[in-house]
Amino acid sequence: MSKKVISDYNGYDYKKIFWEDANRKYEDMSDRLAIRRLLPKKLGKFVDIAGGYGRLAKEYISRAQSATIFDYSKTELKQAKEEFGDKIHTKAGDIYSLPFKDNEFDTLMMVRATHHFKDMKKVTSELHRILKPGGVAVIEVANKRTLPKMFRYWTGRSDVNPFSKQPSHLKDIDKNGFYNYHPQYMENIFKKAGFEIIEVLSVSNFRSTTLKKMFKASTLVKMEKRAQKALAPVRFAPSIYYKLIKLDPKATK
Ligand SMILES: C[S@@+](CC[C@H](N)C(=O)[O-])C[C@H]1O[C@@H](n2cnc3c(N)ncnc32)[C@H](O)[C@@H]1O
Repeated sequence: MSKKVISDYNGYDYKKIFWEDANRKYEDMSDRLAIRRLLPKKLGKFVDIAGGYGRLAKEYISRAQSATIFDYSKTELKQAKEEFGDKIHTKAGDIYSLPFKDNEFDTLMMVRATHHFKDMKKVTSELHRILKPGGVAVIEVANKRTLPKMFRYWTGRSDVNPFSKQPSHLKDIDKNGFYNYHPQYMENIFKKAGFEIIEVLSVSNFRSTTLKKMFKASTLVKMEKRAQKALAPVRFAPSIYYKLIKLDPKATK
């Protein structure tokens, strides 16, 4: 139980405050580009884990046989229902014990959520459990090894070492803190859980207040389009996207 951290978005208008009222068109488009590249064309039975109010629902609804948004926040799930009605199912609960059966889904996605989770081993094992063998998971990871974090560390402005494999817990941003993960740490967890990594993208490469002042969102998106694949091998961006396949345990015995 001590491993659990719930970032409670109930009563918080994440949609309006974080996305609509803020200058985040570039970040939103970067997520969409990555999802379009990584999600299979046909999704079958699909779940968006920690999907919030369904910001990204237009990227998957028409390709899924059925689409569910799972989240802890009933405020956000209500907003999702108001916008998408019968086109989506919603389910409330806690990521550490997902209210779904083993092998229930063909495809799942989890975006912009790992920074809230302290125990990524448990989260990954839950995601693995609810996915069918051969099913696809697209998971975005909040990366601790970014260029700005390296500069802050080298110049002594931060004592968080971006090169250490251990997760970092940044307590200055939010009362629960934000967890950031080293790509290798997460890749080991994915493999140990029984996933194969089949594609990686470097995402939100130009997430910087300075760059956003210098360039229009459309220019940054154009650059982002080229950078997501090209920069994937170095894994320096704030968001690293993984396309994983659940290996069939029978085939690997
Ligand atoms: C930053 S938002 C991202 C929402 C959505 N994936 C997106 O990209 O717009 C993080 C989401 O994680 C959810 N969350 C946080 N802790 C959770 C938990 N323990 N179980 C389920 N959802 C959780 C929050 O309610 C919130 O909707």
